[in-house]
Amino acid sequence: MRLPMIRLQPLRSSLLWVALIFALPGLSACGGEAEDPAAALARRGQAIFESVCTACHARDPSQPGPVGPEVAGASLELLRAKVLHNEYPPGHVPKRDTQAMVPLPHLETDLPAIEAYLATFNP
Ligand code: HEC
Repeated sequence: MRLPMIRLQPLRSSLLWVALIFALPGLSACGGEAEDPAAALARRGQAIFESVCTACHARDPSQPGPVGPEVAGASLELLRAKVLHNEYPPGHVPKRDTQAMVPLPHLETDLPAIEAYLATFNP
């Protein structure tokens, strides 16, 4: 009666090892390479830009869009003035002399993320 138990034991522990070996690469993929905060911010900005701003601006921010001009490299100051109030910071020469952009004040807390994304392009 005791014999099968003895034989089962090594089998069980080797199965455990196999399970561990398969689980380890998965674990390191989750916890090992955490994205750096600046890249995470820019990636969030990209998601917002592509879902909101590309209604008028080009998907590639360095190109002119169907309605809005290129916005690559836009500063936080410019984004605050234009996106929140449809205005320009002092001294900024607008790329277009239209007033077609609608203010989007609900994006106030997202502007640093949008700025970080637009900074990844050359103006
Ligand atoms: C309804 C269309 C529309 C949407 C949506 C829109 N824009 Fe615009 N944007 C424009 C137009 C058109 C201009 C040119 C000036 C004008 O007519 O207001 C402009 C100008 C700008 C400028 C000034 C560029 C310069 O240097 O003169 C910035 C910066 C800008 N947009 C950023 C954004 C961002 C960021 C978003 C998304 C949060 C956005 N816009 C969403 C249409 C839009």
